[in-house]
Amino acid sequence: MNTQKIKGLRGEVTIPGDKSISHRAVMFGALAKGTTEVRNFLQGADCLSTIECFRSLGIEIENTPEKILIHGKGLHGLSAPSDILDTGNSGTTTRLISGILSAQPFETTLTGDASIQKRPMKRIMEPLSMMGADIVSVNGNDCAPLRINGKPLHGINYSSKVASAQVKSAILLAGLYADGETSVTEPVISRNHSEIMLNYFGAEVHTTGNTATIKPQPNLTAQYVNVPGDISSAAYFIAAGLCVPNSEILIKNVGINPTRDGIIKVALAMGGNLTLLNENHDGEPTADILVKSSNLHGITIEGDIIPTLIDELPIINIMAAAADGTTIIKDAAELKVKESNRIDVMVENLNAMGASITGTDDGMIIEGGKPLHGAVIDSYADHRIAMSFAIAALLADDETIIKGRDVVNISYPTFYEDLSKLQVI
Ligand code: S3P
Repeated sequence: MNTQKIKGLRGEVTIPGDKSISHRAVMFGALAKGTTEVRNFLQGADCLSTIECFRSLGIEIENTPEKILIHGKGLHGLSAPSDILDTGNSGTTTRLISGILSAQPFETTLTGDASIQKRPMKRIMEPLSMMGADIVSVNGNDCAPLRINGKPLHGINYSSKVASAQVKSAILLAGLYADGETSVTEPVISRNHSEIMLNYFGAEVHTTGNTATIKPQPNLTAQYVNVPGDISSAAYFIAAGLCVPNSEILIKNVGINPTRDGIIKVALAMGGNLTLLNENHDGEPTADILVKSSNLHGITIEGDIIPTLIDELPIINIMAAAADGTTIIKDAAELKVKESNRIDVMVENLNAMGASITGTDDGMIIEGGKPLHGAVIDSYADHRIAMSFAIAALLADDETIIKGRDVVNISYPTFYEDLSKLQVI
């Protein structure tokens, strides 16, 4: 990464489409009758895994640079794949598709890369089994590969121990096929893109408090979906704009759904100069975000806000290292079961750059304000770790090397190009 200290970050950046929404557009488009058109689809490896899985399930999907066309065949239009489904690095693909496959009249085996094969699947196997699904972990370790033998399902009222949109969505998708209503209650509400988009495609999903309920057997109809920019990708530019001196960045067309906007609240609470412009509240809300260099201070981040910024905690760690004072992050044990163990990996890498960070059982404590120096960083094949340390590298006084830097392909293939365009040399 940069060897030369930059003079600031200036200009505009348009963030690629939201990963969670792109996955769902393909999945729900496949289960709807007719041709769904998706604009600003995220061409990241995770979403391409979802496309490949649905092609293997008999759905024709045209992928061109300007749009995706999904020729959906309705709720009962999938056909048995000829091979094992490969979900790559994508937890969203693995867990959501399991909900759908649990109800199909055929058997499927699915698995993904080394990281996916370590991530917990009991959290979906348990509720799906309660609905009548026959879903087993092939190696008996509650991880992928999973073998799913589709069965008639019945509705359940499930109380989830974790706030997880992947768990909630897997159950709601299985609930499309059940013999009665299905509801999922979460300890804290997680991202609600499935609920919004399923309603848009013609399903009936109601939310009361932390409970989402779906009526079975809807007729889903193809739709036009314009995917907003991903706030999780925008987060790197929010952090960079606030922390790199002499910076001003306009981040355009970012999704600001309240179940995802914790990074904005945290940036403001840390004293960040951040303004929302051109807000649009039709469907999934969006805004442009203007950020300017700021003197940040440490805060405590805990409780209900955590699911709204769970994927942003690595880059928030970098902001905390640049801030004055102490930042405490609690209630975030889920970090341990993401693409990497993000508590351990942040502690190792950030300390290697001269920061002071200690891991806890459910988060971390960062003593901010220590000068950062360059280091060799291991991304542990985790896209969010690579991008977080690309921003940390801009704050360090000599060269940083990120091992496995190309893993940004998972969620933001043009990340390094977009970042370098803003750099004032
Ligand atoms: C996602 C939900 C979150 C998030 C992931 C995407 C989704 O995972 O971390 O990047 O699209 O539903 P969990 O549901 O495991 O919290």
